[in-house]
Amino acid sequence: MPEFVGAIDQGTTSTRFMIFDHAGAEIGKYQLEHEQILPRAGWVEHNPIEIWTRTAAVIQTTLQRAGLHDTDLAALGVTNQRETTVVWNPRTGRPYYNALVWQDTRTDRIAAALDRDGRGDVIRRKTGLRPDAYFSGGKIQWILENVDGVREAVDRGEAVFGNTDTWTVWNLTGGTNGGVHITDVTNASRTMLMNLETLDWDDELLSFFGIPRQMLPEIRPSSEPAAYGETIPYGPVGGQVPITGILGDQQAATVGQVCFSPGEAKNTYGTGNFMLLNTGTNLVRSQSGLLTTVAYKFGDQPPVFALEGSIAVTGSAVQWLRDQLHVISSAAQSEALARQVEDSGGMYFVPAFSGLFAPYWRADARGAIVGLSRFNNDAHLARATLEAICYQSRDVVEAMQQDSGVVLDVLKVDGGVTANNLCMQLQSDILGVPVSRPVVAETTALGAAYAAGLAVGFWQDVEELRAHWAEDRRWEPSWSQEQRDEGYAGWKKAVTRTFGWGE
Ligand code: G3P
Repeated sequence: MPEFVGAIDQGTTSTRFMIFDHAGAEIGKYQLEHEQILPRAGWVEHNPIEIWTRTAAVIQTTLQRAGLHDTDLAALGVTNQRETTVVWNPRTGRPYYNALVWQDTRTDRIAAALDRDGRGDVIRRKTGLRPDAYFSGGKIQWILENVDGVREAVDRGEAVFGNTDTWTVWNLTGGTNGGVHITDVTNASRTMLMNLETLDWDDELLSFFGIPRQMLPEIRPSSEPAAYGETIPYGPVGGQVPITGILGDQQAATVGQVCFSPGEAKNTYGTGNFMLLNTGTNLVRSQSGLLTTVAYKFGDQPPVFALEGSIAVTGSAVQWLRDQLHVISSAAQSEALARQVEDSGGMYFVPAFSGLFAPYWRADARGAIVGLSRFNNDAHLARATLEAICYQSRDVVEAMQQDSGVVLDVLKVDGGVTANNLCMQLQSDILGVPVSRPVVAETTALGAAYAAGLAVGFWQDVEELRAHWAEDRRWEPSWSQEQRDEGYAGWKKAVTRTFGWGE
């Protein structure tokens, strides 16, 4: 058996390829960013062709640099930014429109209409989601209604939908020469089109958006011993490697953090923050603004579900300081700047750039900086930005405790922002629980590799994977309870100031 497993992580800002060995250690990695296309306020697009070209390039470069070949890979896993919607022509391989990214709010009105006539309740009951521009269903509807000729093309079998997992796998397996058109249950659970109980597309849900079933991919398990397909020899992998794992990126991080038992949770700090709590084979319905979603389904085993707290803007608020305000020149610099002050000087920053997701779900919210006095400076703003990342996570933790009764004794974290030690200390202070970062911080790619490797027997079972997890660093709370309560009360007040600005 070859000694390694590869994983493609097609994320919101970049695509990376990683290679892992049997111990779950990183052997090679390369990543490339792609353009964020922002045609107007609230619109966010990606060019699917650029995404595929970058995916091919990162695979080739990683293999070359590691001195490895297709024959060294036992299997490939794919993980991806979820919800982002591509509609393309399988005869030509050309997309009909740019990908509509999960952060794009142009379908706010489509989502709001669902709640005016009872369809929203059906969506809540059947999908575990809530009507929101975030999910794929409204994005597909928008493309069908606004891009000339797509609806007719669907009838001719010349327009198909996929999230970026589906787009990637279709291209890897041959594209116009027989590429497979599939997705996994975790990605399908983010569309508003899949019924959580049947794990299949649901005709009633499809009718809400006017989406023909024939344009949708086949839904498969997240770890697939039969393989979804093989890479083609003339593609970037350079040979036939079975693709046997697909997971949406947040579910992949849950697997990479080995949260395999009910009650185990992880929080990933990327463009946004996403906290997932494993609820086992039980479908737990949220009363507190969380989503119910599929965590993973391995082969023919029953699906495992999760409660999810999705936060749209966290790491991207730091990027905003860098790219729009120019108060820092790199994301890493936010830590040094924020350390120049003891606290945020009474300032709160609520980065509600795409409205507010969990637990508020306010499409009408927009960003606000409040509590300013003349005393405040750029260092206070940097600190308030890091605190905002942590306060938003506290909102989600509170909701999770209400829904599940599970009281966190430690928060497992991963993702780019966890390199910011001050932010992690603040997270522990604001939550009042320890925060723990694993040695392998790339848990998203690792989770996809685990799903792929389990399918081909590269790893035997989840117990073997658990043994790979090791702590790198832990932060303990240092604030008094009074300081914590006061800070959080101020945050809650600041959040109310963001409502009513958007459409
Ligand atoms: O739901 C959106 C999420 O999957 C995006 O994750 O890490 O690409 O920002 P990320």
